[in-house]
Amino acid sequence: MKKILLCGYMASGKTTIAQLLAKASGIPYKDLDEIIEKKAGKSIPDIFKEDGEIKFRKIEHEVLKETLEHEEPFILALGGGTPCYAGNHEFLRRDDVVSVYLKAGIGELLKRLRKQDIKRPLLDNLTPEAQEEFIAQHLFERSYFYHQAKHVVAVDGKSPEDVVNEVMSLF
Ligand code: S3P
Repeated sequence: MKKILLCGYMASGKTTIAQLLAKASGIPYKDLDEIIEKKAGKSIPDIFKEDGEIKFRKIEHEVLKETLEHEEPFILALGGGTPCYAGNHEFLRRDDVVSVYLKAGIGELLKRLRKQDIKRPLLDNLTPEAQEEFIAQHLFERSYFYHQAKHVVAVDGKSPEDVVNEVMSLF
């Protein structure tokens, strides 16, 4: 049995799908951002504010490497930027990994981000117009890394249950 890695942009549904997938499959789920916060002893916005993004990316890389050393199967929701730094995209191609890119379009991401009340250091200081521009550019830059995942599941307009069923059919 494999290690299931979910990647995708902020608000693409990684954590929600990982939780539902865990329920449906009986495989335990982990969230990379939560493991980082536990290890650092502070929230992600605080790591960005007090230590900077580079430090955050270093911790993120270390924590991902350590987590993948566990032998037993698990589902892991990555952070939105995880595959895009420190060669992390190579982890998506490992033999013991089933990696899935939850692919959402800009319109869907904006809709979801506006409904959520989660602190996201990369987006929080932008006006709605600037956010749209930023996400379009960011998604373009990150697309290469997300597409290193072994599977792509389009999520626009689908219910979480539909997405879970599609992901389950991949392992
Ligand atoms: C980030 C996404 C966040 C978190 C950090 C950086 C990114 O995770 O890891 O704020 O670079 O896209 P979510 O995708 O779970 O919001």
